[in-house]
Amino acid sequence: STATLKLNTGANIPEISLGTWRSLGATDGYDSVIAALKAGYRHIDTAAIYGNEDQVGKAIRDSGIPREEIFVTSKLWNTQQHNPAGALKDTLSRLGLDYLDLYLMHWPVTFNTRNVKGTDFMVIPKNENGKPDIEMDTWNFVKTWELMQELPATGMTKAVGVSNFSINNLKELLTSPGNKLTPAANQIEIHPLLPEHDLIKFCREKGIMIEAYSPLGSINAPILKEPKIIEISKKLDVPPAQLIISWHVQRGYVVLVKSTHEERIIANRKVFTLSKEDFEAIKNLAKEKGTLRVVDPDWSPFPLFK
Ligand code: A2P
Repeated sequence: STATLKLNTGANIPEISLGTWRSLGATDGYDSVIAALKAGYRHIDTAAIYGNEDQVGKAIRDSGIPREEIFVTSKLWNTQQHNPAGALKDTLSRLGLDYLDLYLMHWPVTFNTRNVKGTDFMVIPKNENGKPDIEMDTWNFVKTWELMQELPATGMTKAVGVSNFSINNLKELLTSPGNKLTPAANQIEIHPLLPEHDLIKFCREKGIMIEAYSPLGSINAPILKEPKIIEISKKLDVPPAQLIISWHVQRGYVVLVKSTHEERIIANRKVFTLSKEDFEAIKNLAKEKGTLRVVDPDWSPFPLFK
């Protein structure tokens, strides 16, 4: 698919992106981005904490495709929420690019850096109890957003947004006195066992683009092994990954699919339209089977803000 959706900034965003989380081998980031751009992808998603911005940026630069034809996203790590402008500058220098298309706050969680030694901010600082050192009283994501909303004016990024934000987090951000800008996007885990109907509806009403990460369920792609998915893909004679990615696209949001295998990267872009019946069957899977959250780190905002 070469289709694009529209952000609340007016910019177009290609609906299928290559995800690069865990593309960590010596050349995984580079090779997968080269393969994706060759296969026609024009949207690449990375993050400072993925540790592959240098490879991803080099692949974008080496591809020969004009920079303005590629949509590039990266993310602010939790240790740098006091200084998003500085963090973005570092990201651009690792990527070797002049600007991003989208810069996201990676989590609505600020890490305390009192125990960070030197300048390596790509860490998970620990407190006395060996848990992630989360800053709660003196700072929070609302203050981070107040700094981030100034970034488009610097020219370093065309748009800013958030990631892993719940409805409550978004409500707090949107109604805070210092808020001047609605996030362009909220990047969250979505797949048939975590369909996020309410969060998607809320974001739509506010004009916030949804981006689905771990669309196949991340490591080992558990969603591909769901009996119902296998049954429908057999019936339609399409690979399960193609069925699920098509289902995401049909829901009308951006989907970020990670692979380091060229043949999968090529196949994952081939989407088709599902019948209403098949679309609904996948939509109802979580109701029947219960939900599954695969990305649940120990700084997860879900218990934190409950
Ligand atoms: P790999 O990188 O080895 O191809 P998600 O996008 O939900 O994070 O899921 C990505 C997982 O699914 C990765 O482990 C990826 O592994 C695997 N994957 C990606 N595309 C396909 C595909 N077409 N068929 C099977 N597995 C896939």
